Amino acid sequence: KKVAVIFGGRSVEHEVSVISGLQVLENIDESKYTAVPLYINKEGKWFTGDSLRKFKNYKENNLNDLKEIVVVPTNNDYNLYTQPESVGLFGKKIIESVDVAFPVIHGTNGEDGTIQGVFELMNIPYVGGGVLSSSVGMDKVLMKDVFKANNLPVVNYVWFYRSMWEENRNEIINNIKNKLEFPLFVKPANLGSSVGISKAKDEDSLISAIEIAVRYDRKIIIEKAVEEPREINCAVMGYEDNVDVSLCEEPLGWKELLSYEDKYIKSNIKNNKTEKRRIPADLEDVIRAEIEKIAKNAFQVIDGRGNARIDFLLDKNQKIYINEINTMPGSIAYYLWEGKGYSFKTLIDKMIDIAFK
Ligand code: DAL
Ligand code: MG
Repeated sequence: KKVAVIFGGRSVEHEVSVISGLQVLENIDESKYTAVPLYINKEGKWFTGDSLRKFKNYKENNLNDLKEIVVVPTNNDYNLYTQPESVGLFGKKIIESVDVAFPVIHGTNGEDGTIQGVFELMNIPYVGGGVLSSSVGMDKVLMKDVFKANNLPVVNYVWFYRSMWEENRNEIINNIKNKLEFPLFVKPANLGSSVGISKAKDEDSLISAIEIAVRYDRKIIIEKAVEEPREINCAVMGYEDNVDVSLCEEPLGWKELLSYEDKYIKSNIKNNKTEKRRIPADLEDVIRAEIEKIAKNAFQVIDGRGNARIDFLLDKNQKIYINEINTMPGSIAYYLWEGKGYSFKTLIDKMIDIAFK
């Protein structure tokens, strides 16, 4: 089978996606598949060419180096990609000639149903969530609305549009203060990798946090912060009632907010895989079972497909909250599946199989 491995993208998570995409290219079983790399640059232009495979040093680089390499344009190009060939709108010809598309893109224009819509229109099977689960999974407000409607545990939240903030801040601040107690998290509704998120302890910090968030998105969500939280993540793979839950992990070494820096830079990531995590997470059996059950449910209620990572928060009384679902998790969450006996290769295989179900 010919597989288009698509990475990069018009997203603040571009660099993270480059790592994930290169990992998939490196680990795909070449005896079964012919991988065609497709890189989307930050402006949304599509490229292909074997030079896209040449950047083998990404493992030795942390994201700071990668940023230099990928983001800094030289002669209108990126020096990672020596002479890639531009392939026009949606790399249409190339995608039409493959058996399956494998978008390994995080965030906007890749994990939010938009690229999935292109594949639907072109009638190309594709890996990962469909249009609906991708778009619901991307919007932290709709995601939480759907979870809440299905009695899955989420923290209290309110939301508003940037235009409303510009028109009437006082009303918004009063509404937040009436409905939620500090401390709060302020988040752009449609971003990933913790970009644009801040914690607010009082009204002043709330206002500054909103000012940051509105730079990134026209929709803002304010959430009640879980106090002294532990973060527990696990992945769910499959479709409909055929789903499998991975081991749980606990990212370590962060305080109030697991930031972009913690996730990718400070942790000295190699392969998107921070060393600072415990797998399996140290959990009481009943908590683990409950988390697994909720994870499976959360995946199903948004009509999940493929392989998603679901992030939980546990408060000091062991109460469980779903923080979010990531329908195309960093590094396709391979490290969560290893403990289930699936190698990276096998995981890719399974994800491709699901695209044909
Ligand atoms: N959005 C990042 C890539 C993640 O969830 O892993
Ligand atoms: Mg995310």
